Amino acid sequence: MPKKLYVVFAVVLVAAMVLAACAKAPVATEAPAATEAPAATEAPAATEAPAATDQQLEVFSWWTGGGEAAGLEAMIAIWNTQNPDIEFINAAVAGGAGSNAKAVLATRLAAGDPPDSFQGHAGQEMIGTYVAADQLEPLDDLYEANGWYDVFPATLIPLISKDGHPYSVPVNIHRANVLWYNPKVLAEYNVAAPTDFASWLAALETLKAAGMESPLALGEAWTELHMWETVLLASAGPDLYTKLWNGEADWNDPAVLKANEDYNKLMEYVNSDYATLSWQDASKLVADGDAAFNVMGDWADGYFSGTVEGGNLGLTPNTDYAWMPVPGTQGNYDFLSDSFNLPVGAKNRDAAIKWLTLCGSKEGQDAFNPVKGSISARNDSDQSLYGVYLQSAIADWAKDVVVGSLVHGVVANDTWKNQISTDFGAFILDKDAAKFQASIVASCAQYGPCAE
Ligand code: GAL
Repeated sequence: MPKKLYVVFAVVLVAAMVLAACAKAPVATEAPAATEAPAATEAPAATEAPAATDQQLEVFSWWTGGGEAAGLEAMIAIWNTQNPDIEFINAAVAGGAGSNAKAVLATRLAAGDPPDSFQGHAGQEMIGTYVAADQLEPLDDLYEANGWYDVFPATLIPLISKDGHPYSVPVNIHRANVLWYNPKVLAEYNVAAPTDFASWLAALETLKAAGMESPLALGEAWTELHMWETVLLASAGPDLYTKLWNGEADWNDPAVLKANEDYNKLMEYVNSDYATLSWQDASKLVADGDAAFNVMGDWADGYFSGTVEGGNLGLTPNTDYAWMPVPGTQGNYDFLSDSFNLPVGAKNRDAAIKWLTLCGSKEGQDAFNPVKGSISARNDSDQSLYGVYLQSAIADWAKDVVVGSLVHGVVANDTWKNQISTDFGAFILDKDAAKFQASIVASCAQYGPCAE
C-alpha cells in the first residue's frame, strides 16, 4: 500500500477505536477555514460535463427493498415538498450491502457518468476508494454553512475526510453486531437467550436436537462475511480486532484461527439454501419461526417493525422479535455509517448540494432513520421519534466500545475487502480455518496496512 494511503488508513482506524469516547467532543477547531476549501476550479470544467439542468436530481443507492426503501422514501417526500420543481430520480440498484450497486457505480464513474449523489460508507470505502481516486468534490463550504462540525461526532469526521477536507455527509449510524431472535421460538423450545458464544452454540444444538433443522438463518455471500466479522470480534475482543485492521496486530494471532473454527461450528446450524437468500429472506425465516436466530445489521429492525404497506413485516418488538449483541460482543458496537457525496462531474450540481443539505439536516435524519432502522448521525436528534430497538441502540452507542465494520466499508478499502471476500468464498466451501487465516495474512500485506 502506498505510504500516503497507509497514513490515512492508520488515522481512520485509530479514530474508529475512540469513536464512542469522543463522540460528544466539539470539533470546531478541526474544521478547515472556509478559505482553505479547494477552489471550485478543481471541479471539471463545465464543457467536460453534460449540460446541467438542475431540474432533476439523480440519487444512487441500494435501498430498494423492504426496510431499505422506506427510509429513502421518507427523505424523498421531504425533497418533493422542498423542491417541487426538481424531479427526484431514484437510481437505486437492488442488492443488500451494495452487492450489485457498487459494480454499476464503478462502471458509471469510470465512464465519466456519475449520478448527482451516491451512497457510500464512511471509512476506508469513502476515503481509500472514491476520494483516493479523486472522484468526489470536497464539501468544506457545506459543512461550515450548516454547522455540521458541531453536530456530527468529532471522530466520525476523519472517516469522511482527507487532508482536513470532508467529502461526504453521513445520514446515519448503523450497528452490525446484532443477533436477532424469535422469542416465541425460544420459549417453545425452552431455550434461554444466550449469554456468550458457548451458550449460543448450546442453544443451537438444543434446537437442532429438538427437530429444528436450521436454527440459524443465513443469507447470500455478503451476509456470510458479515456474520464472520462479528465472530472475529467475539473471538478477538475490540482492542485486537481494531489492531488487526489497522496493522498493529498480526493476523497470525490464535484468536483469528479460533474465530474461523467457531464460524465453522455455526455453519452446522444454517439453512442449506443460504447462498440464494437475501438478507430480508433470512430475517423472515426468524420472523416466521422457521429459524431462531440471525446475525444482521440493525436495518433488520426497519424490516421487522416497518409497515406491511411499505414492504415490511409489521412485527411487534420484544414480542415477535428480539435482539442482543452477537454473543461474545456485548459492550461493543460494530459500527458503520451511510453517507452521500458530490461526485466530480455531477450533472445537477446545485440540486445535489440541496440534497446533501437535506441529508445532513435534523429534519431529514429524523425522518429517515426511524424507518430505516438506524440512529441519527447528529447529536441533536429527537429520540422520541425512534422505536424501542433504536432507543436501545442510542443508549449503547453512547457507552459501548466502538469498532468498525469490514463488510460495510469502515476498516478496509474496497480492494482489500474484495480480496478477503474472495478468500472467504473459498473458506465457506473448504472450511479450512488455517488456510483462510493465511489468506488474510497475505491480503493484508498486499492491499492492507501490513505492507512494509
Ligand atoms: C449496508 C448499508 C445499510 C443497508 C445494508 C443492507 O451496507 O450500510 O444501510 O442498506 O447494507 O442493504
